[in-house]
Formats: sequence, C-alpha cells, structure tokens
Amino acid sequence: MRSHYCGELNASNISQEITLCGWVHRRRDHGGVIFLDVRDREGITQVVFDPDRADSFALADSVRNEYVVQLKGLVRARPEGTVNPNMNTGEIEVLGTELQILNAAQTPPFQLDDHQNVGEDVRLKNRFIDLRRPEIQQKMRFRSKVTSLLRRYLDDNGFWDTETPILTRATPEGARDYLVPSRTQQGSFFALPQSPQLFKQLLMVSGFDRYYQIAKCFRDEDLRADRQPEFTQVDIETSFMSEEQIIAMTEEMIVSVFKELLNIDLGSFPRMPYSEAMESYGSDKPDLRIPLTLVTVSDLMQGVDFKVFSGPAKDPKGRVAALKVPGGNSLTRKQIDDYTKFVGIYGAKGLAYIKVNDKSNLEEGLQSPIVKFLPVDVREALLTRLDAQDGDLIFFGADSEKVVNEALGALRCKLGEDMDLYTCEWAPLWVVDFPMFEETSDGGITAIHHPFTAPSCSPEELKASPLTALSQAYDMVLNGTELGGGSIRIHESSMQETVFELLNISAEEQEEKFGFLLDALKFGAPPHGGLAFGLDRLVMLMTDSLSIRDVIAFPKTQSATCLLTQAPGEVSDKQLKELSIRVRKPVVE
Ligand code: AMO
Ligand code: AMP
Repeated sequence: MRSHYCGELNASNISQEITLCGWVHRRRDHGGVIFLDVRDREGITQVVFDPDRADSFALADSVRNEYVVQLKGLVRARPEGTVNPNMNTGEIEVLGTELQILNAAQTPPFQLDDHQNVGEDVRLKNRFIDLRRPEIQQKMRFRSKVTSLLRRYLDDNGFWDTETPILTRATPEGARDYLVPSRTQQGSFFALPQSPQLFKQLLMVSGFDRYYQIAKCFRDEDLRADRQPEFTQVDIETSFMSEEQIIAMTEEMIVSVFKELLNIDLGSFPRMPYSEAMESYGSDKPDLRIPLTLVTVSDLMQGVDFKVFSGPAKDPKGRVAALKVPGGNSLTRKQIDDYTKFVGIYGAKGLAYIKVNDKSNLEEGLQSPIVKFLPVDVREALLTRLDAQDGDLIFFGADSEKVVNEALGALRCKLGEDMDLYTCEWAPLWVVDFPMFEETSDGGITAIHHPFTAPSCSPEELKASPLTALSQAYDMVLNGTELGGGSIRIHESSMQETVFELLNISAEEQEEKFGFLLDALKFGAPPHGGLAFGLDRLVMLMTDSLSIRDVIAFPKTQSATCLLTQAPGEVSDKQLKELSIRVRKPVVE
C-alpha cells in the first residue's frame, strides 16, 4: 500500500513520486493551502494540498486528527526559510496529488502532544492511542532491539531457548502466587510461575547444559515504580560453570548491549560483599553514583546520656550510623524537617543532625539539637571518624539495624538526587557473598535469595550457624536498581533437604511441594547455576524512563489492574459452577 515510511523521506527522495500511509498527526489550513502532517512509526512528513486538485483538496480539508489516510505525491524541497532542522524529514515536503481516507477516527480522548495534561489512568485506559506517541514507540522499539541483542548473544554462546510452563506449581521467590483454578481437578489450583527457577534447574538435570528464556513471571506483591505483577525475565541457567564464569559471561552480555545500543562503555564491574553494601550504603543495591556513605558510630554512642542513641548502640541488633553531607550546612530548617518526615516513611523516629560550623571549636562550633548530649571527646572522635570539615552536615540514625539501614540508605539516595551529587552517569556493580538466610520478625528464618541457592559451606556448618552462613548468590546492580540476580544452586538432595529443614519445611511438605526436585537431584544432577535479569528494568534504565510502565506495552496499574481490558473481571455463574467455586462477597469495612 505504500512506497515509503513517512519518517524515512529526506532530500535524496526529492522529485520522486511516493505513496504514504499513516495517521493525520495535525491538519493546518494556511490561507487556502492545507498542510497535513502524516505520521507512521518511523516519523512525520508534511504533505501540502493546494486547491488546484479540487478533489484531494476537499478531502484534505475534511480529515481530522488520527484519521488513517493513504496519499500519493511528489517529494520536493521545502521553500527556503521553512526547513525544520528538528525533524528527520525537515528538508522536504510532499506535494499531495491523491488522497484516500482509509478510516475515519473519532476525536481522540487526548491529543498525542497533550498527553502530559491527562492523567496516567486516561492514557492506560486508551493505551492503543497512548502507544501511538513517538516517544513511547521509540522505547518499545528500543526494547525490541535489546531483546534481540540478548537473544543473539545467548544463541551465539550455545544457550537453548526453551519454554517452560505457565500453568504450574508454586515457585517460591518471596511473593504471593497468582492462582488458577483447575476445572478437571476441582478444588485444585495451578500457580503462575514467579520465575522458571525449578524448570530451568530440571533442564540442567536433563543435560541441556545451557538454557535461556525471555520468560513472563507473575508475582502478586506490592507494586512500586520498578515492579509489575507480570514482568519479563531474561532467564539463564548453565551447568559446569563456576560463579566466577557465570558472572563474567553475563557481565559481558550486559556490557555488549550498552555498547551496541547506547555506545556506553560500562567498564569492568566492581564486586562488593553484601556486608559492605549494608554497612556503607544501607542497601543491598547501592547506588554508587552518589558518593555519600553511612558510617557506624555505635561504639562512640554507647556511653552517651541520650537514650535514643545509647539504647540502639548497646543493642546487638541496633545500629547508630552517621551520614555526612559535605557542604550540607546550607540546608534550611525546613529542608531538614522534610528529610525527617522522609525517613519516617522507613520507620525512623527522628533525624538528629549536627551542622559543623567551626570544627576547631567543639563547644560552640557545632550546631545541633543533640550535641549537648555528646561529651567533647565523643564530638572529637566523631568528627575525626567522619573526616568532617567546616560547612558539612551530619545526619544520624539510631534504631534497629534494619530501620537505620533502610532510612539512611533511602536518605542517601534522596540527598544525592536533591543536591545533584551524582559523580557519574552509570554505576554498575556485583553484590556478592550474600548470607543464606535472614531472620523474620516472628523469629524464624527465610532464604535471602530462594531456597535452591547453594551455601558456601558444608551442610554441617550450615546447620550449626545458619544466620552467619554465606551463599553463592550474586546480584547485578545498576544505579541503585537490582537488574539481575542468581546463584550457584544446590545440586545434592541432602543439602537441599537440609535447607528445607532449616526453613522449617516439614518432610511431608517437602515431598508434596518439591518432591520432583528432590527426586531429580538424586538422578545425576550436575553442578549448575544461573541468573535472571529483569528485562523491563534494564530497558527502563537504558531509556532513562521514570516508570517501568513506560517500557511495557500493556502495563498494569499500581493496584495490579488493567484499565484497558478492565481485568481482573467478574466471571459468569456457569464458569464458577464448572470450577466448583463459590465467591464470598468481599467484606466491606
Ligand atoms: P529474582 O527474584 O531476583 O530472581 O528476579 C530476577 C530479576 O527480575 C526482576 N524482577 C522484577 N521486575 C519487575 N517487576 C517485578 N515484580 C520483579 N521482580 C523481580 C529484577 C530481579 O533482579 N529465579 C531467580 C533468578 C535466579 O536465581 O536465576 C529470580 O527470579 O530485576
Ligand atoms: P528528641 O529527644 O525527640 O527531641 O530528639 C532530639 C533529636 O534527635 C531530634 O533532632 C530528633 O529528630 C532526633 N531523633 C529522635 N529519635 C531519633 C532516632 N531514632 N534516630 C535519629 N535521630 C533521632
């Protein structure tokens, strides 16, 4: 139907007869001449209809925004003074000779240029129109290029693209499952996979050696700007490769994608043990673009006459940490109050601070609501440890380790953003040496990665000291976002049983839920490991998008619904009956 895309025409096409198909982006009437900007996914071309050709002129006059048209015309240079250097097609225009309306359009719920002035809900409800915006189309095109490059890399390295089931049993990755009722086994449910974890391990047992899949994963969890209930992993598993080899190969893959698509050299990624990440950044996904670090000062605060500090300082599960902001002395009272509110989101009960006006004067030179509680020797030791200079501000967090890390870790990122402290554009790293387990609030333990992750020690050592045992897990972090994570897996059933036992999963439950895995590990399971990248997050970072929704064609809202299709929706009584399901009316509080 067409000879060219609208967006591909340029000066080299001058004098050619062409046929275009696309959408009317804008129609302008310039004193008896009609201009149509006609758009397709490649861009926009300006088409001029003059009254000499009465038929097409009348039609051009009648079209409205978003009509679908086909037109024939002659490419010509734009008259001097009307060249538009901001458009790919800005040097030329098309003199329209024939016009056909392929389909009319009602007035769209929002004009593409005006999308910022409508709520995201309007855009998501009319996603088919929102997806026409050139900006979003560029992102989706970019996504397609990323997927294709990743596939090429993995294909070239001998990975087999293998699909795994969507209707399956639970795969524990720490979120709630999406359940699907079975009609043929009434009262039983499938779970949608939180990841293909168990299947990819089984493929290793089957001797596939190298597997990958661009896999849909489903997690019913609280949503944030970088989380969707349904998202895509670049899921990878290999046999007979060490942690080091898996890290090297997948790092090379990500580096090559950045190089090829953005011409950015990410260099070689530093490694950081989990303990250092938590100690210095309060997070297992530190944003290393920001130079601020947390410094533990618990030892200095144990004896001070300020319970807010001395309490957590003496508590083995507590922490008192300081965050020095160079030049932060200029923050106003109002700004400090706002930051105090901000850390409150993470459970912090306050945000003590010291403004270092004159460090040579420990009596008068420190401005702070708490300095009166700190003996002079503590003030001195504090300033020395933090290498504080005049003009600096020091924030403090005192609470359980968890609250301090979360609050000051988030504050560090907020300050970095507000004060534009970024030292570089891209800061990748690997976080390694994760603990196997962490304590839950009810005193139990839970796997930090998933329960199939291999520890760095023997089953006996693991049993003796589960909370201090390290795992062979690794996360790739970029600019404070966890881009991917994986581990060497347990490949011996006895070790797997030990881990299940430590997680308080009874023998019956092990058999019921994971019997197939335990069986597989008994029939010649090779040493294996892998990882999974969040494709949506990768594309989000590479396209500098604020939300993961901007790089997913049909995303869900923060409340996990699809405004376009109105999913989830009610089902008929007949369907419920077939499934033997009776729905209780939700309790309205
Ligand atoms: P994990 O749970 O760390 O590991 O997930 C891997 C990566 O997937 C991305 N991701 C998400 N992206 C968008 N929305 C979500 N709700 C979401 N949840 C996770 C993240 C994350 O790093 N089976 C293991 C991998 C392995 O061990 O091989 C797993 O799923 O970028
Ligand atoms: P207060 O004793 O409540 O007047 O607090 C004195 C200062 O300590 C204020 O600046 C509070 O913001 C701060 N503060 C209170 N609790 C904490 C805490 N748990 N961690 C850090 N600072 C705190």
